[in-house]
Amino acid sequence: MAEAVIPRRHLTFTRWRYGSVMTGNSGSSRSSRSPVSRRQVLAGAGGTGLLAATVTPARATTRTRRFRAAASDGTPEQIHLTWGDNPATSVVVSWASPGQAARPRVRIGQRVIPAEPRPYTDGISGEPAWTYHARVGGLRPGATYAYAVTADNDRNVAEPFSATFRTAPADRAPFRFTSFGDLATPNTAWVLSYGQSAYAVEAVESFQPLFHLLNGDLCYANLNPTAQPEVWRDFGNNNQTSAANRPWMPCPGNHEVEFCNGPQGFTSYLSRYTLPDNRLPGFGGRWYSFRVGSVLFVSLDADDVVYQDAAAFVAGPAALTPVASTGHPPIQPGTSFYLRGYSGGAQTTWLERTLAAGRRDETVDWIIVQMHQCAASSSATGNGSDLGIRQEWLPLFDRYQVDLVLCGHDHDYERSFPVRGADTDAGREVATGAAVNTLRPHPVTTADTGMFDTSQGTVHLILGCGGTDAPLDEYGTDMADRQRQAKVFTRADRPVPTSTPDVYTRAAADAVEDATWSAKRDTDTGYGIAVFDVDPGSGTGGQPSIKITQYHAVGADPVNPATGAKGAPTPDYTEFETFTLVRSR
Ligand SMILES: [Fe+2]
Repeated sequence: MAEAVIPRRHLTFTRWRYGSVMTGNSGSSRSSRSPVSRRQVLAGAGGTGLLAATVTPARATTRTRRFRAAASDGTPEQIHLTWGDNPATSVVVSWASPGQAARPRVRIGQRVIPAEPRPYTDGISGEPAWTYHARVGGLRPGATYAYAVTADNDRNVAEPFSATFRTAPADRAPFRFTSFGDLATPNTAWVLSYGQSAYAVEAVESFQPLFHLLNGDLCYANLNPTAQPEVWRDFGNNNQTSAANRPWMPCPGNHEVEFCNGPQGFTSYLSRYTLPDNRLPGFGGRWYSFRVGSVLFVSLDADDVVYQDAAAFVAGPAALTPVASTGHPPIQPGTSFYLRGYSGGAQTTWLERTLAAGRRDETVDWIIVQMHQCAASSSATGNGSDLGIRQEWLPLFDRYQVDLVLCGHDHDYERSFPVRGADTDAGREVATGAAVNTLRPHPVTTADTGMFDTSQGTVHLILGCGGTDAPLDEYGTDMADRQRQAKVFTRADRPVPTSTPDVYTRAAADAVEDATWSAKRDTDTGYGIAVFDVDPGSGTGGQPSIKITQYHAVGADPVNPATGAKGAPTPDYTEFETFTLVRSR
């Protein structure tokens, strides 16, 4: 492509300031930079607290003026790529603009591709969001393309935003991808946001992967319920540094679930991403698969199967009151948005069909799953493991030899041994000490050799180490036998009243088990990025392998729980560990 690439412009972040807030999973609190104007705050289990607040008339008026000023501004921002249905030949360019764009479009070579508008109105603030998606097909595999994004009312129409991307290889070829979850934004006015999220995006760029997997809890907009579009905007503009140059493939986490925004609360998420088609009407974008080289990638929505109640939640004592124009009534204290079972089994049926087809396909070596919540996490201060995933999906991962599962949710790094099958007598209830069947994943080896045959068992990685201000690199220990210990949700932790009137909470996991499956935990920091180098094996019969290196940002923790040392965001990502997965063809 001969088209010139114009440098990316300086990006600014939303300038809203908010009051004192507190979140549950970190126990951290933060003061605002301006007088407190929100009425109430909350604390809840698992980092899932949602402050209850009202959009005040003064703020609504200010926003209305701002919307009017932006109404004619179609300048593209928050520009990001995802794979089309075939990553070798198609991508989707997505973006937003401050106001409605006139003739939004992508230019690639001599082609001009009109974008599909997908606007929505936030169900709490009543703010409009203008989002656009241009499907770019007919590309050559393994090729680099330049593109430009613009509109008639683009302030930069004479010199529009442009960047380059590379398509996936058509067949068996080496490639690199990266992953982390729980990114947040660099705007510390927002709950759970932290400066490390900017360095995390830059870290992706430094490794120049073909694409990035963003495994859920993208920006925690639902913890900033009266300003969700602004949080998404800061997330999108931070992400653009990398996601305009290579696809970022997300899965939804508990913090993509927002009150008054669609049947599962995913309107913000689904309006901003176009994802490969799962051909299930009513469930588009929630889960999907795509193929790159010899790897089948499967992205799931674990909100559908987990027991834990960790999505949008009003702790009280105040209600969360949407602006009048939305027509939504106040959301009362003690209300949570609980999604378990929302697909009625459709996701699991789709998953089995997808995995079975993948394993039947002789051109597929590897099956890699991403989801947000964890089947195998021994975080002490985070959420832990969830029996719902173990019941619904681990038997399928066993049956179809899923090689690798990538999760987020707990803001740390943890690696399991290869696991297959379950130990049925390993758990006990926290409250009573009674035995409880946690279906503990059974390690097929506990020798940490650095090389694992995943045809024998699935390796789970926790990669919730993106950029939040709540690193959770503290892990459980059974003080009785000094074994590693994991918390496990075996039932729903629905909101319960506290001793304070009209204030509710959600409990932590109800069971524990010795985490015999846990192989490696990073106690140095809660920040990092995993880099995956896929080698399909040289020549006929060559052994495929994936070399995985976890790089971590030591010193980035605001306070390192292991040492008490205070840190600050850092651009320095250094190697924590390297290991290799192998399997026979
Ligand atoms: Fe999460």
